Amino acid sequence: MLTPDFHQLQSIDAEALAAEARAGLMAVRARASPKFFYDALGSRLFDAITELDEYYPTRTEAAIFAAHGDAIAAAARQRLGPGFGLVDLGAGDGAKAARLFDLLRPSRYVAVDISIDFLRLSLQRLQRAHPSITMVGVGLDFSAHLQLPDSLCPGRSLVFYPGSSIGNFDPDDALRLLRQARALARGGALLIGVDLVKDSATLEAAYDDALGVTAAFNLNLLRHLNRLIGSDFAARQWQHLARYDHGLSRIEMHLLARQALTVSWPGGSRHFDAGERLHTENSYKWTLPGFDALLRDAGWQQLQHWTDDAQAFAVVLAS
Ligand code: AVJ
Repeated sequence: MLTPDFHQLQSIDAEALAAEARAGLMAVRARASPKFFYDALGSRLFDAITELDEYYPTRTEAAIFAAHGDAIAAAARQRLGPGFGLVDLGAGDGAKAARLFDLLRPSRYVAVDISIDFLRLSLQRLQRAHPSITMVGVGLDFSAHLQLPDSLCPGRSLVFYPGSSIGNFDPDDALRLLRQARALARGGALLIGVDLVKDSATLEAAYDDALGVTAAFNLNLLRHLNRLIGSDFAARQWQHLARYDHGLSRIEMHLLARQALTVSWPGGSRHFDAGERLHTENSYKWTLPGFDALLRDAGWQQLQHWTDDAQAFAVVLAS
């Protein structure tokens, strides 16, 4: 019986994160990276978001895999041949990939997430259920640069990037990430989830739900910053805002100051006028032809895609 191997490739540098957070607050247009959403409470709030009526992406992607999993796996296996690795970007608990194990039958599973602490228990559990798959957990913030040592990822791979997390990247950064994914796959394939352009009412509801869970998710970033840099954000002074920008094909999330206020932290402060914003996230939406062109620019060729009837979401296979 195999046991999973764990490698933390980057140490999580709290001081560098704090410096990044402070720099964002001092920018002319204040901003905070969406990675600051995901402390312990933020991760649970995101899980709650995926259960909301308005938040269609998670459920739609799952329905596409449920309906077309056999065809998706057959197409991928045909491309990859026997004995390939499955590289799971942002693996979390690995549940999405694990649902494909029996269909895909990879010989190796490489789960990548920002910290191996998120991977340890779930990978050990997955290993017991799938004793013949070699399992590796890798701690890496691949949003800055995606590269793995050959020893962790030898041979051809299927790079798996579900959830439309690619939407958090500006088109230039998405292109760079997809190029790096191509190098990582070594002649293998890419299986990626992409949220598609649709009417702005549907999009804005998905990011501004009736129960206020997404508002809480957005506001919780302020609590996370308070812990990280010692700031004194008061969540009650801020309002959640989600708007679809047609020109840029993206949902923007902001926090709006309800009144004039000053936020202070050791070594600095920032004044916000009433109505001034802190920009917390972009979530890009793609058209199928637009995403196809992005893949081609990155050196991939789309083999096939699968969507739901409403074409809300797509699962794309490229080689
Ligand atoms: C995790 C980046 C795919 O953009 O839909 C959900 C994050 N933000 N609701 C998305 C998110 C607000 C989500 N991704």
